[in-house]
Amino acid sequence: MISRKLREEIDADPELGVIYREAQTALESAADPGDIESVRVSFLGRKGRLSALLQGIKDLSPEERRRVGRLGNNLKTWLENSLEKKGDMLRRQELEGTLAGERLDITLPGRYMPFGTRHLLSRIIEEIEDIFIGMGYRVVEGPEVELDYYNFEALNTPDWHPSKSLSDTFYVNVPDGEHSDVLLRTHTSPVQIRVMEKTPPPLYVIAPGKAYRHDVPDATHSPMFHQVEGLAVDEGITLGDLKGTLEHFAKRMFGDDRLVRFRPHFFPFTEPSAEVDVSCNICGGTGCRVCSGTGWLEILGSGMVDPNVFEYVGYDSEAISGFAFGMGVERIALLKYGVPDIRYFFDNDLRLLGQY
Ligand code: DAH
Repeated sequence: MISRKLREEIDADPELGVIYREAQTALESAADPGDIESVRVSFLGRKGRLSALLQGIKDLSPEERRRVGRLGNNLKTWLENSLEKKGDMLRRQELEGTLAGERLDITLPGRYMPFGTRHLLSRIIEEIEDIFIGMGYRVVEGPEVELDYYNFEALNTPDWHPSKSLSDTFYVNVPDGEHSDVLLRTHTSPVQIRVMEKTPPPLYVIAPGKAYRHDVPDATHSPMFHQVEGLAVDEGITLGDLKGTLEHFAKRMFGDDRLVRFRPHFFPFTEPSAEVDVSCNICGGTGCRVCSGTGWLEILGSGMVDPNVFEYVGYDSEAISGFAFGMGVERIALLKYGVPDIRYFFDNDLRLLGQY
């Protein structure tokens, strides 16, 4: 602030008065910090009007020099202070405008970010793998497009076997109605042959993967489905080892109080063969809709590896023995979670898949 008396003196001076009044007008009409800077430059900058006037003081008479010097310096101080004050005000206004424009309503509900989850079937496969890895098994894989040799022949499956028919197996190439020997594997059992060809015993492996069959989709069938194959080959492996291993698996998968039973069956690559049932985890074995009143659920096929299979891979069936098993992953998921229809796994309806 400068005194009223000083202001009147400045105002009355022909040169300082003009600068003073113009500076006042310019200050008043400055609308943003940029304008303030322009006003400062035009009056106080190196070539500014007030700076020029103050530089000219030295040419005045001593008396005028003192008077103009005193008034000019007071005008300069006034202008500097006024610029700073108005500049502060405009900068604050600008900031407030920006903040108001960027204002966030933190009480608004957050935006929904859907979380992905592993597919139920992938997690069942992982669960199965973990149980067998815990017993010392290794996880291996094989191709989905297979040769007849691995899918059937080396698995001791004769040419006349019904599963080789066109209505059961997807052949990759059928020239002139003849079977090609390239096909989509109908089970994961060919991985047994591929592993044994490459690795000498002892062998403890499981092989998860996709399999394909010419089935019409319904509640329990899908032309593409998943299996987990198992194979143990060592000296002195017995049916007792197979039963113990599968019983441990069933209890870990379906619950400690589950019972396991073996039913005689036939598979070309095992002898003897058995289908394995686990007591129904829904009703506890008393009989319900899921187990069709029997109290038992079939979960896999298994048996002692047929010596003919060992012949194909060059294993000495006199020195070693083994067991094998194969389970349907969808079936295990259906049973464990009570999913009523296998097609739900592949419809990709997140409302269903997200529940598990
Ligand atoms: N490959 C059989 C199937 O798809 C399942 C199976 C049965 C696998 C017995 C085996 C086994 O390894 O020993 O129906």
